[in-house]
Amino acid sequence: TMADHLRKYESLFTLTPQRMRMIVEAFKDTLELGLQKHDQVVPMIPTFVFGWPTGKERGDYLAVDLGGTNLRVCLVTLQGEGKFEITQSKYRLSEEQKQEDGQKLFDFCAECLKTFIDSNIKEGTIKEGQELPLGFTFSYPCSQERIDHGQLIRWTKGFGVTNTEGRDVAAMFIESLGKADIPVTLTALINDTTGTLIASHYVNPRTKIAVIFGTGCNAAYMEKMGNVEKSKSLGIKDDAEMAINCEWGAFDSFEHEHLPRTKYDKVVDETSNKPGEQAFEKLISGRYLGEILRLVICELIDEGVLFLGQNTYKLEAPYVFDTAFLSLMESDPTDELLMIIGIFTHFFAVETTLAERQFFRALAMLIGKRAARLSACGIAAIVSKMGYLEEGCSVGADGSLYNKYPGFADRIHEGLIDIFGEKGKNIVTHHAEDGSGVGSAIIAAMTKERKDAGL
Ligand code: BG6
Ligand code: GLC
Repeated sequence: TMADHLRKYESLFTLTPQRMRMIVEAFKDTLELGLQKHDQVVPMIPTFVFGWPTGKERGDYLAVDLGGTNLRVCLVTLQGEGKFEITQSKYRLSEEQKQEDGQKLFDFCAECLKTFIDSNIKEGTIKEGQELPLGFTFSYPCSQERIDHGQLIRWTKGFGVTNTEGRDVAAMFIESLGKADIPVTLTALINDTTGTLIASHYVNPRTKIAVIFGTGCNAAYMEKMGNVEKSKSLGIKDDAEMAINCEWGAFDSFEHEHLPRTKYDKVVDETSNKPGEQAFEKLISGRYLGEILRLVICELIDEGVLFLGQNTYKLEAPYVFDTAFLSLMESDPTDELLMIIGIFTHFFAVETTLAERQFFRALAMLIGKRAARLSACGIAAIVSKMGYLEEGCSVGADGSLYNKYPGFADRIHEGLIDIFGEKGKNIVTHHAEDGSGVGSAIIAAMTKERKDAGL
């Protein structure tokens, strides 16, 4: 029966508190290693964002945010006292754009920015000839030598854009800005987690860590330079602080020693454009959760358990099962699970029994819960490494999974309690409003202040 099948998946996808604590320990070691040595699997990237904002940052800034799913262009007005205003345009990236030539992609970003600036000039929100500082949020691992530079280590989140890995993406974008004749100065290249860290702190000074759970997953936090052994040669004072972009999605890549991967996870990995890489991210982020569930369904179709006698070809194509479907399935309020009927008839042209729908919902819950509990392990590793448990801290969080998946935040909090006991309650995540836009504006302002001060 479906109930017997479910028991099997329960044991495959459930993470015990004990297992979670083991993962946290390994995670901590990995974070430390990344701070000590260059070129580690989890690269712990120094971002050249020095310390926290004062909250007094003000002014108008432009931001371009190239994420995993959308390109956003924003105009941000910082008003001080943790307040800001933002207007933005959003463009969805096509699958072709994610695989085409790099310079072409940056040309597209520049064109969108130009359109945005022109329409803001028309509306009077930007003055003609006004040269605004621009922050570029580029949410992929880049090693940085300074704030307005970043060499792409590797694409993640399914991107396969050519002629870009190993190159300075800030320089490539500046070239596109020049071609489009846009009068802006690129002041900062930042990661979405770094932006979220700074933006969260601007409105909530208890913030010590930022996390993104969206198409990809990653974290940033503020570190004392004295703990960053590999950057000693920079000659920065030991007690100076710098934000670190962990790129923790890469945890347990290649060796696969620590994370509980099922055979479905292995298929997701092997059929991806980057086998072996982003092992942690592939168990957690929105890009992959739907695919994991689809692979379970396909196995049960092959075994003759599901949809016997129905044509299931629509379910058999990779990545057709969106992670948003898992959200919908988990939040279906009806006894008959009408939303789940809708998903399967409308998108996949198959009929389901109530028992099957209950099974799918339970499966979504297992996969979603595992993702949240693994996320808790990552947060716990930073908390424990930094000694934040006793005094507690806020964790700024953003991304479609965190914002839209029902119960994701609660499950993270439960996971933290499973790891730390009651003290886990000291660590609280909260939604961070618009990290990439506001964060890059604040960072641009902080960078300008440092420059003006001759630093
Ligand atoms: C947005 C943040 O809400 O979430 C971005 O403002 C971030 O900074 C994005 O990159 C990540 O989520 P997703 O789901 O778009 O990958
Ligand atoms: C991927 C990227 C990382 C980003 C995260 C969330 O893990 O490598 O840079 O922060 O996705 O968008």
